Amino acid sequence: MVKIAVIYHSVTGTTKQLANSVTAGASSVEGIEVIEVEILGADIIEGRFKNLALLEQLKDVDAMIFGSPTFMGSVSAQFKAFADATGELWAEKAWSDKVAAGFTIGSNLSGDQLHTLQYLQIFANQHGMLWASLDIPGNCDPQKRNRLGAQSGLIAHSKDGILNEIDLNTAHYLGQRVAHIVKKFAR
Ligand SMILES: Cc1cc2nc3c(=O)[nH]c(=O)nc-3n(C[C@H](O)[C@H](O)[C@H](O)COP(=O)(O)O)c2cc1C
Repeated sequence: MVKIAVIYHSVTGTTKQLANSVTAGASSVEGIEVIEVEILGADIIEGRFKNLALLEQLKDVDAMIFGSPTFMGSVSAQFKAFADATGELWAEKAWSDKVAAGFTIGSNLSGDQLHTLQYLQIFANQHGMLWASLDIPGNCDPQKRNRLGAQSGLIAHSKDGILNEIDLNTAHYLGQRVAHIVKKFAR
């Protein structure tokens, strides 16, 4: 069984909704087991991410899909605390060759969400992971997915906490895409 983890942080629940859609998309592919892992404020003690059990859960997955809200043009402090806690795993090359992808949301249409995706990509590449893009050409999809046109991953937007259906559909697709890629590698 091929295993994918969806790891995210969310304060008001919009990133969580995207994470749920990513999980549903990945789970819809046969032969895929998905675990959804939420980074919580309580995991962070005196500024350091301390949930070692969460890190342990990620050891034997084949792919990770990272999600964070865009806060001040980057990932949330909580997501960064999680990332900084992976230093030992980095030294051991524990995540090398795993597939990675990412998603984010902001309340502005162009609120620097791309920088958040770029951070997630660099984080994955720090670990020697293989970054999976979003292969839906913006504005060319019959179902209008990837409405904001990023190809590095999913950028979503909500002004009022209500998710756009198209963003949720794009998140579903991103989960499916990573599942198909990982299955190809497994073959
Ligand atoms: C401290 C803070 C900083 C934010 N910075 C940005 C930003 O740089 N760009 C943007 O588009 N939205 C920004 N937002 C809006 C959030 O990204 C948006 O509300 C998002 O949906 C929150 O995700 P969540 O519901 O998963 O917590 C910011 C919100 C907060 C609280």
